[in-house]
Amino acid sequence: YTCDVLRNFSIIAHIDHGKSTLADRLLELTGTIQKKQSGKNEQVLDKLKVERERGITVKAQTASMVYKFGGRDHMLNLIDTPGHVDFAWEVSRSLAACQGALLLVDASQGVQAQSISVFHNAKERGLTIIPVLNKIDLPAAQPERIAAQMQSTFGINPDDIIRISAKTGQGVASVLEAIVTRIPPPTGSTTTPLKAFLFDSFYDRYRGVISLVNVQEGILRKGDKIASCHTRKKYEVTELGIMHPEEVPADSLRAGQVGYVACNMKESSEAHIGDTIHRVGESVEPLPGFQPAKAMVFAGIFPVDSNDFPKLEESIKRLTLTDRSVTVQRESSSALGQGCRLGFLGTLHMDVFRQRLEDEYDANIIITAPTVPYKLIYRDNREVFISNPTEFPDTSDTASKVKEIQEPIVKASIIVPEEYFGDMMELCFSHRAENLDHRYLDSGSATSSRIILTCTLPLSEIVTNFFDQLKSRSSGFASFDYEDAGYKQSDLAKMSFLLNSKPVDALAIIVHRSAQDKIAREWVKKLHKVIPRQLFEVPIQAAIGRKVLARETLSAMRADVTAGLYGGHYERKMKHLENQKEGKRRMKKMGTVELPQEAFFDILSNK
Ligand code: GTP
Repeated sequence: YTCDVLRNFSIIAHIDHGKSTLADRLLELTGTIQKKQSGKNEQVLDKLKVERERGITVKAQTASMVYKFGGRDHMLNLIDTPGHVDFAWEVSRSLAACQGALLLVDASQGVQAQSISVFHNAKERGLTIIPVLNKIDLPAAQPERIAAQMQSTFGINPDDIIRISAKTGQGVASVLEAIVTRIPPPTGSTTTPLKAFLFDSFYDRYRGVISLVNVQEGILRKGDKIASCHTRKKYEVTELGIMHPEEVPADSLRAGQVGYVACNMKESSEAHIGDTIHRVGESVEPLPGFQPAKAMVFAGIFPVDSNDFPKLEESIKRLTLTDRSVTVQRESSSALGQGCRLGFLGTLHMDVFRQRLEDEYDANIIITAPTVPYKLIYRDNREVFISNPTEFPDTSDTASKVKEIQEPIVKASIIVPEEYFGDMMELCFSHRAENLDHRYLDSGSATSSRIILTCTLPLSEIVTNFFDQLKSRSSGFASFDYEDAGYKQSDLAKMSFLLNSKPVDALAIIVHRSAQDKIAREWVKKLHKVIPRQLFEVPIQAAIGRKVLARETLSAMRADVTAGLYGGHYERKMKHLENQKEGKRRMKKMGTVELPQEAFFDILSNK
């Protein structure tokens, strides 16, 4: 594959607007993959099982294809980007290796919240943007109206918009042509010292860490001695090549090319995303790198059977080899035993990881309620980040040593049809929104009545069920995006839950003072519902510091499971007793209260 002409591009879009489907069509049209016989759209680039199940792209995948145009072979390098707000960081790093991007907009849904954020992200990097309207085959498609919307939102000339159906393939050939004619080739000379940009990596059981790189200057050859600008470690290139779509070995990668490199890297942590690779003995100025992705949502993960901890930890380790953005720390809880505290980019990221863990680990796990990292500023100006409610100081402590408590906030934008505007405002207000603002998305357009609403929200307010409520209150029409907006002082406290006067550490949560009474009441009610009666009376309390805010009492019951079974039903009776024994084994002792795992499950999963 020695093509002279190169193009590096990404496809950027709001979730479900058809990125993966278009990527497959491009790969088919260039003969990189075979056309599927079944007619089912099974996307090639979405490699992970969860991605298939959920239809979302999580990890960026890269593929090269050869396209004949004007009598010449062109190598087009597609760098696929994930399509969810949690993965904005992965989108950024993919874009850094491109000169152009296909901005894909669904012709029936129109411009959505992430269409706007990915557009700005690409624009800021100076990429050439090729606007594409997808799904024109749908009866509900309104290409004219959406093209006008793209013009008013992005300042795009409607004549530049390519109309396609990624599903049927209609118009897709023009996309390939536009990639060649509109996107500039990568610059960079093959005679200058080597500079390769590391933008992704994955782990291969046999070859160790495989890095995906974009050679920006010079030529990278098999056998080269290379070094990392970041770690200063040295390696020898044992294999390199292009992704076509799987690895195809080559002798070299030259300036502008995108491909994979194996070089006996043992640990994933050595492949630093955003790193610059150079040849040993040549000194180069590193390319601008990235801030590493910050974990913003934390949760404890525990095995249901505490003997399984080593197995769970092993599975977590294996999974983090392929997903480096997850942070891992050991954690032990008096209620749940030994476990791990994991940090994720967002809640979807957490869900995806959990599902992968369940597939891989093949046993039940308990996940505690998600928490965001809170910032505590002490009187001596020390700043401490706390991402586990159990470590949050009690109120007496807080008063004496902590000067200020801050929480992470985000700048959110919601796009919604006008008729749901009131509901959205209410939703935002009930989640402590500030700086609310709104405007019509397409100014001057008589046909459209969509509104873009912006505000700041505490991150903690959107990590639980905000997204579900947004969808249900807008009949699925609202789209949502957010970006980091720093930290802000907030009136927060740790709420503990006590069973029979003993706090259960795994249940502690951080709450805003304005909502403390409501939350306390709701929670004790919920606990009252899911905790089975015991042989003695159990008070269930919610407290902040020493102050009890709500209480319910679980009345005592004799657990006589054979009551109601009379004479003659010996076998049934035995079976019941057997079941009860089995149930006992699965009980977790919370102080003096026996809590079945399922109850714990119920409490934590409904948060
Ligand atoms: P994420 O990877 O989750 O960001 O989604 P995506 O943007 O890759 O979208 P994907 O390609 O998975 O497509 C989303 C859905 O739209 C799938 O059910 C596709 O079959 C469907 N779809 C994609 N393109 C077209 C099209 O041109 N016409 C029609 N009718 N459906 C399409």
